Amino acid sequence: MLILGIESSCDETAAAVVKDGVEILSNVVVSQIDIFKEYGGVIPEVAARSHLEAILPVVKKALEDAGVTKEEIDAIAVTYAPGLLGSLLIGTLTARTLSILWGKPLYAVHHLKSHIYANWLRSAEGNVLLARYGCASQNRIPPTEGRGLPQFPLVALVVSGGHTQIIYMPYHNQFEIIGTTRDDAVGECFDKVAKILGLPYPGGPSIARCADGGDALRYKLPHPKVGGLDFSFSGLKTAVLRAVQAELGLPISTPSYELASKLSEQQKADFAASFQKTAVDVLLDKLEMALKVHSEAKTVVLAGGVSANKVLREKALERLKLSKNGASSQHGCASRNRIPPTEGRDFDPAQPSVMPPKSTILAQFKPASDFEPVRPQEIQVFFPDLKLAGDNAAMVGAAAYFEIISGVEPTDPYSLDIMPRVGIR
Ligand code: KG4
Ligand code: ZN
Repeated sequence: MLILGIESSCDETAAAVVKDGVEILSNVVVSQIDIFKEYGGVIPEVAARSHLEAILPVVKKALEDAGVTKEEIDAIAVTYAPGLLGSLLIGTLTARTLSILWGKPLYAVHHLKSHIYANWLRSAEGNVLLARYGCASQNRIPPTEGRGLPQFPLVALVVSGGHTQIIYMPYHNQFEIIGTTRDDAVGECFDKVAKILGLPYPGGPSIARCADGGDALRYKLPHPKVGGLDFSFSGLKTAVLRAVQAELGLPISTPSYELASKLSEQQKADFAASFQKTAVDVLLDKLEMALKVHSEAKTVVLAGGVSANKVLREKALERLKLSKNGASSQHGCASRNRIPPTEGRDFDPAQPSVMPPKSTILAQFKPASDFEPVRPQEIQVFFPDLKLAGDNAAMVGAAAYFEIISGVEPTDPYSLDIMPRVGIR
């Protein structure tokens, strides 16, 4: 099945042709980063105008690169939510028009779903599977089993410029949000901290580059105290601001835009590294907690623009390996992973007597008997190919394919509406 995907939710105009949900025949992305570098962020009206100029050439090129005609396309898929209103409109209007003109079924895809399904796409380098961890059972796994594609049930950590969520998926196209940010998204936090440090837009890659030469332990930044699996990142951004002001011996009334020019390159690198480490630690603390709740999960997938972060990738592999299977156990996985019932109930092993606030976690809590063994004997960790971590349309085609095989009906091209703020569904 050939799906033409179209994506325009923020500042990337993208179209792609995807075969059977996993094979990329073409993937065209026109980024507006160069335009918005000057302004230090996205200006919605400018983004919409740029999409309008780019979208038809981008779709045309996607078909040409794939070597397919419009007649050969089986379905059209487009991002309808969430995102910038004007940006979403350009993509959906294009897709609706093409669907009507070409007589092709139209699928409206949620952007976060697409980010998750980027993990199903085969990359040019081969497979996106980076690591498989196991202990005693590792050698007994048949070589083909589980190879290549994420297995269900899975836990997805979605980290982008607009969202930070932990999503449980029992199977394709079934999503349960088990943790979410209560304020800023982690990508937004990277972008804001980059501004404080005077680093160019987009902030995530700039922080990552700058942090390479920095000491991640130089500045101690607080971990937000948020119950359950939820996140909070606005306090971390303010903590960086205060730490920079303190380092420079300036009062807290000093505007953030006056700070960067007073910092040395080494100080910037140290702040970038310290912030990156804290943000990654916070994300992985919650991810580990989610894996305790959903001990039956076979796979972890990371998704969204921030999943391109090298330190996040490295630390995720390191920590999931240790927490999932224990370090160099001689006794096999099952016994090592057994969590006493109270620990599972209290959630934070460091504070066993503190009950978490009422949250979805408790709804997820399983009786003690289900904790034997607490976790499967291996977990697969997936990251999207680096080229597919940010916004692109191949992931839209992949997500639509798995909607179709899950029985989702096409949408009416005459009435499809955009939903700039709606959650995954
Ligand atoms: O998924 P995405 O491309 O767009 C949204 O759906 O929001 O994510 C964009 C976000 C931006 O905040 C950007 O700074 C961040 O992803 N990002 C990174 C990295 N690359 C992009 N954050 C940390 N490290 C990176 N290497
Ligand atoms: Zn995105």
